Amino acid sequence: MPTENYKFPADFVWGATTSSYQIEGAVSEDGKGEDIWDVFTKEDHRIFEHHTGETACDHYHRFKEDVKLMKEIGLHAYRFSINWARVLPDGVGEPNPEGVEFYHNLLHELHAHNIEPVVTMWHYDLPMALVNKYGGWGSRQIVDDFEYYARFILNEYKDEVKYWLTINEQSIVVNYIDRKNKLTNEQKFDPKFRYQANHYMNLAHARAAIAVHEIVPGGQCGAALDMAPYYPHTCDPKDILAAKNASNFKNYFYMDAYIRGEYTESVLAYLKRQGLMFDIQPGDMELIKKGSECFDFLGINYYQSACVKAPTPGAARRSKQNNKIGKGGHVVYEVQPDLFEGCKNEFIGDTDFSMPIDPVGLEYVLEDINDRYHIPVMICENGFGAYDKLEKDGSIHDPYRIEYIREHIKAMKAAIANGVKLLGYNPWSTFDLLSTSNGIAKRYGFVYVDRTDDDVKECKRYRKDSFYWYKNVIATNGKNLE
Ligand code: BG6
Repeated sequence: MPTENYKFPADFVWGATTSSYQIEGAVSEDGKGEDIWDVFTKEDHRIFEHHTGETACDHYHRFKEDVKLMKEIGLHAYRFSINWARVLPDGVGEPNPEGVEFYHNLLHELHAHNIEPVVTMWHYDLPMALVNKYGGWGSRQIVDDFEYYARFILNEYKDEVKYWLTINEQSIVVNYIDRKNKLTNEQKFDPKFRYQANHYMNLAHARAAIAVHEIVPGGQCGAALDMAPYYPHTCDPKDILAAKNASNFKNYFYMDAYIRGEYTESVLAYLKRQGLMFDIQPGDMELIKKGSECFDFLGINYYQSACVKAPTPGAARRSKQNNKIGKGGHVVYEVQPDLFEGCKNEFIGDTDFSMPIDPVGLEYVLEDINDRYHIPVMICENGFGAYDKLEKDGSIHDPYRIEYIREHIKAMKAAIANGVKLLGYNPWSTFDLLSTSNGIAKRYGFVYVDRTDDDVKECKRYRKDSFYWYKNVIATNGKNLE
């Protein structure tokens, strides 16, 4: 039977996703503590043209209306994150009752509409209090404090949430350490810092995963990793070796720690050779191993694939940068000295923001993960960022988004046909929200939020064409993709 004729299992979960800082707004209301995004969006203008999440899409005040829209589209699940500083303004210690109540209210609303919550504990927004106290992920103390936070929310919401994700996109936090963190100067110029921080994240994740199993009846624990397949530029063995190196360095290094409870040997050897090795204390690897035994499913955020070739001798280390202006071109490719160098894949096109569009890559990663780890997977993000236009009659025509999601759903069908245990699909994003790189102008949602970067207006919601299309996909369990 051709793979396109395969069906999604009857219990397949169709959802959609967001994150706290990118949707909530109300950044200094009702006792919320400051988080790093509150600070660096203002101080060093990390988001294109100085945009902040002060209002975002005002979800904090409109969550009831938003849940009704989720119900209308037919979502089975909704993935969102808890803002750590909203519930624990100082990162640890005294909780903020109004913040705690906000998430109870949201969860109550979701359950009243029969929507399963999938909750991320930490999606980039670290409490400033912990950065001021000891430099955030730069100190081993964060492992205890993350566990404190995890145990607090698990005890608080254990009867309302079964699916927990500990950390969003750990590999992105590590690879873009300066863009996703509020760093001290010392941290900024310490090349080892990101790998030490990564080790602390693995310890923190493990403690939280153990806590999910201890505290939540029937609790299921995962983490959401950014995932791109790394293709060789040519069949020159040196390019093929570069692609293998990139897969180890960018993907397996993180998955091996979560799922197998160990570090990928070739990556450790590379870090040692480059003088970038981090400190591992006695007991750390035992904890990471124990955490892996409590890891039930892998969340993957899939947007794009990547292409690499043998590194140019002597090329300096740098990270990838897509264009921020939405006009194509302007990509700076990643270099890891003596390991691999990014380059353009001539076989696939890309978005106006230079993200390669590659649905086949989704099939590739899903099957690769299944063959290597035999673990259930939940797609926690996948989506198309674009400039959408609100027409005078309130319609928004987004055929490019429909096309993108349709092709990725077909890739999911093929992966299921090839044995992948795919639990669900949560495209990014439920409604328009603040892009972490491009502000509100780059939109991903099924629901249009009427505001611009300069004028928050009333944040009125409008249904896009993709809203009606996805509703039909869900109603037919992925059968009708037209
Ligand atoms: C994912 C993140 O990497 O990509 C989201 O988990 C993010 O937080 C999304 O918003 C889209 O990327 P961007 O750069 O447009 O925000």
